[in-house]
Amino acid sequence: MEEGKDPTATTVSKPSQSRVLPQRLIQLLFLFLVLCFSICLFVIYMIRKTEVTTALASSISILQPCVQEQQNTNLDHWVKPPSTLLHTLSDQELFWRASFVPQLKNYPFTRVPKIAFMFLTKGPLPLASLWERFFKGHEGLYSVYIHSLPSYEAKFSSESIFYGRQIPSQVAQWGRMSMCDAERRLLANALLDFSNEYFVLVSESCIPLYNFTLTYHYIINSKYSFMGAFDDPGPVGRGRYNHNMSPIVNISQWRKGSQWFEVHRNLALVIISDMTYYPKFEAFCRPACYVDEHYFPTLLTIQAPSLIANRSLTWVDWSRGGPHPATFGKSDITEDFMKKLHNSQNCVYNGEPSSICHLFARKFSPGSLEPLLLLAHNFFGY
Ligand SMILES: *[C@@H]1O[C@H](CO)[C@@H](O)[C@H](O)[C@H]1NC(C)=O
Ligand SMILES: *[C@@H]1O[C@H](CO)[C@@H](O)[C@H](O)[C@H]1NC(C)=O
Ligand SMILES: *[C@@H]1O[C@H](CO)[C@@H](O)[C@H](O)[C@H]1NC(C)=O
Repeated sequence: MEEGKDPTATTVSKPSQSRVLPQRLIQLLFLFLVLCFSICLFVIYMIRKTEVTTALASSISILQPCVQEQQNTNLDHWVKPPSTLLHTLSDQELFWRASFVPQLKNYPFTRVPKIAFMFLTKGPLPLASLWERFFKGHEGLYSVYIHSLPSYEAKFSSESIFYGRQIPSQVAQWGRMSMCDAERRLLANALLDFSNEYFVLVSESCIPLYNFTLTYHYIINSKYSFMGAFDDPGPVGRGRYNHNMSPIVNISQWRKGSQWFEVHRNLALVIISDMTYYPKFEAFCRPACYVDEHYFPTLLTIQAPSLIANRSLTWVDWSRGGPHPATFGKSDITEDFMKKLHNSQNCVYNGEPSSICHLFARKFSPGSLEPLLLLAHNFFGY
């Protein structure tokens, strides 16, 4: 029995042993699988983590040069014009930033003075190709800024001098203070480029009357800024004066002029930093009092009378009468007309008589482009 027990015991123990073994094997296998799975998870987690950290590291290393440049390691940061005209500054922030003026008059770098051409437009620039021809070959001597209605989306090709030159804008209405705001916004954006010496305001219907070389030297060498300003005793002059402006603005200081100006950097700074006259004009020109014809001429007559020529360089034809100046279209652009544009009366330039009174003219319709392109070379020299 004992012997018989043994085999039974062995026979019992044998299958039990063989059952334990696969069970342990399965347990081990399971443990192994769990281990594998957790190792896999760990590896994936680590890869993800290192990927993120390397990505972070690489993005930081990309950012680093910019950050270092921002920390003014060289003068370029202060001197170079901003690479993009887009920014998120409010007008108040922009004017404050634009009002920075160096105290030392000598520049520690070669500064080639530029003329900022500021286009105040509703939208498209139908005479753009005429201006492109005017500017061609004079890169480095001018810069271009455009203030159009915020809703307008410009479609200039990347080769155009107008490409990417739109500044952040707001709605501007003729006769309203919002028009002066747009002009001040243009000045402030252009002031951010230290090389801009003169600031020329033009519209989409303006054309240049001479080649760039003559235009540049005429403006850059002028001792005065060109701001139309005259004392008009009539109803559309002194008649628009509001006695509530006294004593800030006396009626004897009240001026009228066209809004198209060519001003030196110093006067551009006077215009954007004015906090005295601006609120008066704003308060008394609500909703409208043709304030854009009075604010700048009056402001500069009070603040810098000895620095303004009291005339504008932009010719306009009021001879047809009415509230709006004449607009010239396709049929108006003849050889005689082109000659007439240079036939100005004698003007004073730097205290001397000059036969050149105007460098720009308006208003020209989109239809005038074709004949202008044909005749500009012979008559205007570009
Ligand atoms: C520009 O125009 C002026 C006067 O018309 C002329 O004397 C000069 O040669 C012109 N310059 C160029 C570079 O075409
Ligand atoms: C302002 O105008 C009045 C006359 O309306 C004149 O007597 C006065 O002198 C003027 N003041 C200035 C600062 O021009
Ligand atoms: C412009 O007019 C102001 C007075 O309003 C005068 O003081 C100034 O001398 C004039 N500018 C020139 C160049 O004649």
